[in-house]
Amino acid sequence: MHWSNKVVLVTGASSGIGRGLGVELARRGAAVGLLARRADALREVVAEIEAGGGRALALPADVTDAHAVSQAADVLRTEFGPIDVLFANAGVGGSAHAAKLEPAEFAGVIDVNVKGVVNSVTAVIGDMIKRGQGQLVVISSLSAYRGLPKSAAYCSSKAAVSAFFESMRLDLHGSGVDVTIIHPGFIKTPLTAGRKARLPWLMELEYAVKKILKATEARKKSYAFPWQLATIVRAGMIMPIFMYDWISRRNSFRE
Ligand SMILES: NC(=O)c1ccc[n+]([C@@H]2O[C@H](COP(=O)([O-])OP(=O)(O)OC[C@H]3O[C@@H](n4cnc5c(N)ncnc54)[C@H](OP(=O)(O)O)[C@@H]3O)[C@@H](O)[C@H]2O)c1
Repeated sequence: MHWSNKVVLVTGASSGIGRGLGVELARRGAAVGLLARRADALREVVAEIEAGGGRALALPADVTDAHAVSQAADVLRTEFGPIDVLFANAGVGGSAHAAKLEPAEFAGVIDVNVKGVVNSVTAVIGDMIKRGQGQLVVISSLSAYRGLPKSAAYCSSKAAVSAFFESMRLDLHGSGVDVTIIHPGFIKTPLTAGRKARLPWLMELEYAVKKILKATEARKKSYAFPWQLATIVRAGMIMPIFMYDWISRRNSFRE
């Protein structure tokens, strides 16, 4: 896959994985639309990309606002042309013990991580189907597979998003639009920076970005990494509940 003639929309591009993807895609020749809420942070990324000779556009918008995301996609098309690839990456963490669950906080995580992804997909999918080509990529998580301690909102949001993308893949079969679900383990970004709990196989951002792009280029339907943690998580899916609970209670990734 050559990125040089591609127009790519990356959500959550003001920091972490989204920023890393935007910078690397532009370095490989793609014209990149960078969407997130913080306009100043996006302008910094655009400046970094342009300084390296790349093409990028800051698209300040909140993914929970369907109209704003749709308008941002229109601006990107007008500036650079039809959108070839969407990275639905914007997301927030969320941790609370069952006894401390707050409905508003829970809804906030679902709004960004699930509805935000749906808003991003609907902003580009019509045009991709019309053109008979395109690729939708979502950054889900290994925590999509089963519930984890103090992670009810995050795990359910990622499970929902993986199931949503799986349905997209089935519906879009034969349309020319490919669907890729990425399930990463722990990556060094602002999202994980404050965590005191041990994060096994914590990956460098540059390494993770390269892995995500390789899976995207191969048009993989689903890609889980690093393989060590992905294997453990997959084993967890077929474990009897008593065994899963025993292991999970002793291995909380949240303090
Ligand atoms: N880091 C990990 O270990 C890890 C592992 C598995 C999956 N993931 C997933 O990877 C994605 C990126 O995470 P990250 O680690 O790169 O986190 P991050 O550094 O905190 O970046 C999150 C990005 O999402 C944007 N965002 C948040 N709320 C938004 C909203 N309402 N509208 C638009 N943009 C919004 C943020 O920008 P603004 O604040 O400027 O809006 C920021 O650019 C998330 O979906 C996360 O769940 C991360």
